[in-house]
Amino acid sequence: MVAARITVNGQEAPIAPAAPHTTVLDFLRERGLTGTKEGCAEGECGACSVLVARPGVNKPTDWVAVNACLVPVAALDGQEVITSEGLATPGEPGTPAVLHPVQEEMAVRGGSQCGYCTPGFICSMASEYYRPDRCAHPEPAEGTGTDTDTDTDTEHGPNGFDLHSLSGNLCRCTGYRPIRDAAFAVGTPTDDDPLARRREQAPPEPASTEYTRDEATFLRPGTLADALRLLRERPDAVVVAGSTDWGVEVNIRSRRAHCVVAVDRLPELRGLRVESDHIEIGAAQTLTEIERRLDGSVPLLAELFPQFASRLIRNSATLGGNLGTGSPIGDSPPVLLALEASVVLADADGEREVPLADYFTGYRQSVRRPGELIGAVRIPLPLSPVTAFHKIAKRRFDDISSVAVAFALDIEDGIVRKARIGLGGVAATPIRALATEAALEGKPWGAETVEAAARVLRAQGTPMDDHRASAGYRSAMLGQSLLKLYAQTTEAVSS
Ligand code: FES
Ligand code: FES
Repeated sequence: MVAARITVNGQEAPIAPAAPHTTVLDFLRERGLTGTKEGCAEGECGACSVLVARPGVNKPTDWVAVNACLVPVAALDGQEVITSEGLATPGEPGTPAVLHPVQEEMAVRGGSQCGYCTPGFICSMASEYYRPDRCAHPEPAEGTGTDTDTDTDTEHGPNGFDLHSLSGNLCRCTGYRPIRDAAFAVGTPTDDDPLARRREQAPPEPASTEYTRDEATFLRPGTLADALRLLRERPDAVVVAGSTDWGVEVNIRSRRAHCVVAVDRLPELRGLRVESDHIEIGAAQTLTEIERRLDGSVPLLAELFPQFASRLIRNSATLGGNLGTGSPIGDSPPVLLALEASVVLADADGEREVPLADYFTGYRQSVRRPGELIGAVRIPLPLSPVTAFHKIAKRRFDDISSVAVAFALDIEDGIVRKARIGLGGVAATPIRALATEAALEGKPWGAETVEAAARVLRAQGTPMDDHRASAGYRSAMLGQSLLKLYAQTTEAVSS
């Protein structure tokens, strides 16, 4: 087997002697690439953002920004990484480097003061700069980068720049206005831009990695069959995809595993198919990939994605991972419950399909057996037309929910024919609000029904008091959520 290697800013380097749990962040800084910073070490600040060449949605390769603090460097065996140091073009001897267009805009518009967050912002911004469908937008007109009157909306610039691409980056001293100005002023990559040209070639293939040091091993099997065989032999192995959860455990709780198995590049887990009666989403598709590939065709998922952590996290996190952790406050389970999704579980003997409503069995527990992998999520078609996802949290974006409620209703001729409601944050597991569904079905979609059903909804689950919210607040929010849905949809349904 070839020794594990990584290409950073065009230079290939061995991963050894890093430990299997060493993060990309620590690896880079150890090599003197100290532009990549550690702010939180848990995926919350973006100071560690770097670019990775990944399979593209609209071109062979996308430059995807990820949190280097969460990803083990062994997971990037054979891959290409660009740091903030690699974005500028080195000058001729005796002349300064030429700043990357993103760096130039940040500099001239005052987007950096202490500079601690700046390399992370630069990498996230560069990822958006190279997003192919952003590039389809016209060049910004002269001076529009600082003119709010010319913005197409509050979250997109006149250059197509999506501010959500910076939702995982925090700045504590500059203030966000100049950073936004810089983002909305960047143009389109030129034809001779090397990173723009790199998008036209395929990204590196995933390496089959077996990296062992000090009795700990990081493994990346090449096929699903290999992965399932491995998990049968090593049922104690920690399975990772984007490492957005496990990376926090390693950094904050100092957890270590004898064996980590990466499944995020398994081709069998990377499909996304729309069939006549269902949509099948491979468990290792990242949330960003699903969002871009579905392109709003599942409105409830489209409403979920911007509220799921940050773009940096969504660039690595997967549906398989979110379900695999079994958290009662994961953002995707309420939505998938409302969509009546099922989970395809695979092991070395075959696969089985389990309705998500039967999947969770207790706090962070599920019917998934040792040695089983989540292969895919299936969403039945047709979709219910009236949907909403209400995430109640202290911040609008990049926060953990106190309560999350997802609705999917069929309303015909003013009657609720079908109601599916998924809840998060009100029990040891995500749950369906079965009593509320029953209180709605067959009834007129009117104030009387909704108020009665909201009373039922307030009593669902067993919410608890904790530092995020009181039990009483959580119950109150459940009822308010249904009233809000009614207020939002009454006009649309009656028209
Ligand atoms: Fe804060 Fe990585 S160091 S997100
Ligand atoms: Fe100081 Fe952003 S420039 S934290």
